Amino acid sequence: MSRLAVTDDVPSIVQIEQACFGASAWSHGLVTDEVRSPRHVVLVADDLTAYGAVSLAGDVADLDRIAVLPASRGRGLARDVLTDLVDRARDLGADRMLLEVAADNVAAIGLYEGHGFDTISTRTGYYAGGVDALVMELAIQEWR
Ligand SMILES: CC(C)(COP(=O)(O)OP(=O)(O)OC[C@H]1O[C@@H](n2cnc3c(N)ncnc32)[C@H](O)[C@@H]1OP(=O)(O)O)[C@@H](O)C(=O)NCCC(=O)NCCS
Repeated sequence: MSRLAVTDDVPSIVQIEQACFGASAWSHGLVTDEVRSPRHVVLVADDLTAYGAVSLAGDVADLDRIAVLPASRGRGLARDVLTDLVDRARDLGADRMLLEVAADNVAAIGLYEGHGFDTISTRTGYYAGGVDALVMELAIQEWR
């Protein structure tokens, strides 16, 4: 189960960021801004081992982050958080969700494809090291 993040959750979210994204982890300040922003939805798993964030702009929701502490992976936590993010984005008026994912991130691509995301384009050499980015889209009004 997941719920909306509150300011008290920021240290736990930063821990997840650091464990999952290392040098690219979001800072305490950036996470705080997202949690407080009316244009973002940030959710945490009840046990604070997973979180996800979307930003909303008109009818488009961008999936900015989804991450699970390494020891808690493979238990369906990301699936639950992503389902909740899509439901909430739809309730807030979004028609589609977009994301970018590294073409070699097998786990994340499996998660997104399992939710019905389609690859709509590729950004060649988008990430450090020359890894391509896949741009994926989900039509969320028709979802579920
Ligand atoms: C991607 C990530 C969020 C998945 O979290 P998770 O809680 O382990 O995922 P779940 O257990 O909910 O699995 C959901 C689906 O994802 C896919 N998946 C998850 N781990 C996978 C793996 N190692 N290999 C292939 N597919 C995988 C599967 O399709 C799975 O569905 P299934 O269980 O029916 O096979 C996690 O690996 C992670 O935090 N990675 C680092 C951060 C990251 O890369 N985030 C995405 C970019 S922002």
